[in-house]
Amino acid sequence: MIYLDQAATSFPKPVEVVEAIASTLKNIPGSPGRSAHKGALEASRILFEAREKVASFIGAEDSSSIIFTSGATESLNLVLQGLLKEGDRVLATSMEHNSVARVLGHLKKERKLEVIYLPCDEEGFLDLERCEKILREKPAQLLCVNLVSNVTGTIQPLHEILALKGETLLLLDGAQAVGHLPLDVGHLPIDFLAFSGHKGLFGPPGVGVLYLRPGLEEKLRPLKFGGTGSRSEFLEQPPFLPDRFECGTPNLPGIAGLAAGIDFIEKIGLTKIHRHETALADIFLDRIKECPGLKIYGPQDRVKASAIVSLNIEGLAPSEVARRLDREFGVAVRAGLHCAPLAHQTIGSFPQGTVRFSFGYFNRLADAEKAAEALLAIAG
Ligand code: ALA
Repeated sequence: MIYLDQAATSFPKPVEVVEAIASTLKNIPGSPGRSAHKGALEASRILFEAREKVASFIGAEDSSSIIFTSGATESLNLVLQGLLKEGDRVLATSMEHNSVARVLGHLKKERKLEVIYLPCDEEGFLDLERCEKILREKPAQLLCVNLVSNVTGTIQPLHEILALKGETLLLLDGAQAVGHLPLDVGHLPIDFLAFSGHKGLFGPPGVGVLYLRPGLEEKLRPLKFGGTGSRSEFLEQPPFLPDRFECGTPNLPGIAGLAAGIDFIEKIGLTKIHRHETALADIFLDRIKECPGLKIYGPQDRVKASAIVSLNIEGLAPSEVARRLDREFGVAVRAGLHCAPLAHQTIGSFPQGTVRFSFGYFNRLADAEKAAEALLAIAG
């Protein structure tokens, strides 16, 4: 199979990741932070080192500002559900994924939020002028930005957004960004950064991260409550990090796998990974440029895009193209709305969606070439 669904989940996983997961399951008897026997202490060490690794990878000074979650969706829910109160005003780009849009849809009803979607252009870029104007008209509690679109790969202009956001807190959905682009929360005023472990970081599914700027924890109500192994005499959640937001037995194999994924990225180099992935996307685009009936979505200037290519072939449903790619050519892609109907409305591909090719570090030149040949054959 030629796997070009890397934006859904990266595949294959580095052997180091598989070994770290297996080793935790085979060799670590005990739950971190719970008991004092050697196995539990070893589990605590793995958890602590993984937290430190994630912190250092994104430039966070204090590793207790790294909260392990079940994935980017839970991280986003933690901020949105934990922060927003009755009547709050929230701004979000029109490129958001349902992991933000559906939470806002729910809270809009439940807490009577004022939710404003900020216009983006056909390539998916936020209209900065409109964003600034809307922010100036009336302050908002939160601005949600999908840093890299899972539909088009559009990379939002982070520095410009940071310069205009003023006092408004910024929640970055980094699901398609972390592990692909360098991000340094230590030097940028990012308030919340949510990301998954199983995409750019090469970890397994079921583990994600929320980074929160130190001091903001008091503004967030926890999403869940329960045992932490700390302050067990109290019937309330401990106020300190990370225990305020982490309870129940953590997914230690998943977290160990995520840490091994970061080691792998650091061994190869983030820049090299990004260059490789985007070079494949560029080659693919070059090979299909004469394809009849082709419509490509997203940034024309590919420097402003990740290794995601969304397209349509006139007269063919995206689901049909994806089905034929899979059945006839063994090329795995994702078609449809990619859980991001707002993004498709923005780029003009709603309701049918697009066919999405997403490239990763383990793809080779031949994958891009064969996928292009397959698409050309389908388009006739
Ligand atoms: N959000 C992931 C995707 O775009 C699952 O495929």
